[in-house]
Amino acid sequence: MKFVKSLLTAAVACAALTSPVTQAAPIEIKFAHVVAENTPKGKMAIRFEELVEQRLPGQVDVKVYPNSQLFGDNKVLEAMLLGDVQLAAPSLSKFQKYTKQLQLFDLPFLFEDMAAVERFQQSEVGQNMLKSVEKKGLVGMGYIHNGMKQLSAYEPLKLPSDAKGKKFRIQTSDILAAQFAQVGGIPLKKPFSEVFTLLQTKAVDGTENPWSNIYSKKFHEVQPFITESNHGLLDYMVVTSKEFLMGLPADIRPVVEQSLKEAIAYGNKVAAEKTLSDRQAVIDSGRTQVIAISAEERAQWVKAMKPVWKQFEGQVGKDLIQAALDSNKQ
Ligand code: LMR
Repeated sequence: MKFVKSLLTAAVACAALTSPVTQAAPIEIKFAHVVAENTPKGKMAIRFEELVEQRLPGQVDVKVYPNSQLFGDNKVLEAMLLGDVQLAAPSLSKFQKYTKQLQLFDLPFLFEDMAAVERFQQSEVGQNMLKSVEKKGLVGMGYIHNGMKQLSAYEPLKLPSDAKGKKFRIQTSDILAAQFAQVGGIPLKKPFSEVFTLLQTKAVDGTENPWSNIYSKKFHEVQPFITESNHGLLDYMVVTSKEFLMGLPADIRPVVEQSLKEAIAYGNKVAAEKTLSDRQAVIDSGRTQVIAISAEERAQWVKAMKPVWKQFEGQVGKDLIQAALDSNKQ
């Protein structure tokens, strides 16, 4: 008996000594983003975490950091290249430093609706644009929708002239700056994490965002008027670093890629639903007035903002603009 006991003790001691060596630590994937969890991007990130951890238990550990908890969008890509974060999905407006091509998506009144956006992103031209960041060490893994942007402000914006002299918070995009300059506005590039305070303290008069960002960040509570302008797009590119992706073991990488693909498809479904439900929730809140614009009023916004296309045609590429326009015809 004594002999059996000491044999057991020896076996336990041996296991304790050997297990840390044989069991590799899980690969960590930090996914940083700036929006709330209850948004298309937020829900997509959580779905990715669930899928990967179901399929690769103990092998991969995904940690999602929403609400700019880890990095703001202006820092996340630098951090990714340094290996401090492995996944992010900044808006297409925030890749300006890495590629000029994705600026296409910021051109005002380019896409007629989200179906046209989807057609374009899935086309050969759209898919090739995902590769435009590769020279910089990044890999575009796919697009994810949020939706069309609405204009909000302290005063009603019915006509382009209503924007004159007003300060607008914008993302870090020269095209968006030009768009507001076209209507006499004063654009200010500021991080998403500061938008609520900027609006609440009236440091800026207005901004532009899709419905799910407006609702989840309560912008409608500090903006008495929202013009349903659908004047531009806010979508994302899911991105990782080439070094990280290529460094994943051969049996892990396809599972991660497939999980991402499924999570993106789910996120896109959420985007379509939330565009409707969050719009309705904003209206039902009674905290803001949603302004509809007539076809004639809309035509005036188009006329005022469209010269931006010409201004950036050289940077973005005439062919890309034409390909995007072609996706409207279907
Ligand atoms: C913004 O800064 O307004 C957006 O890019 C935030 C987001 O990720 O939707």
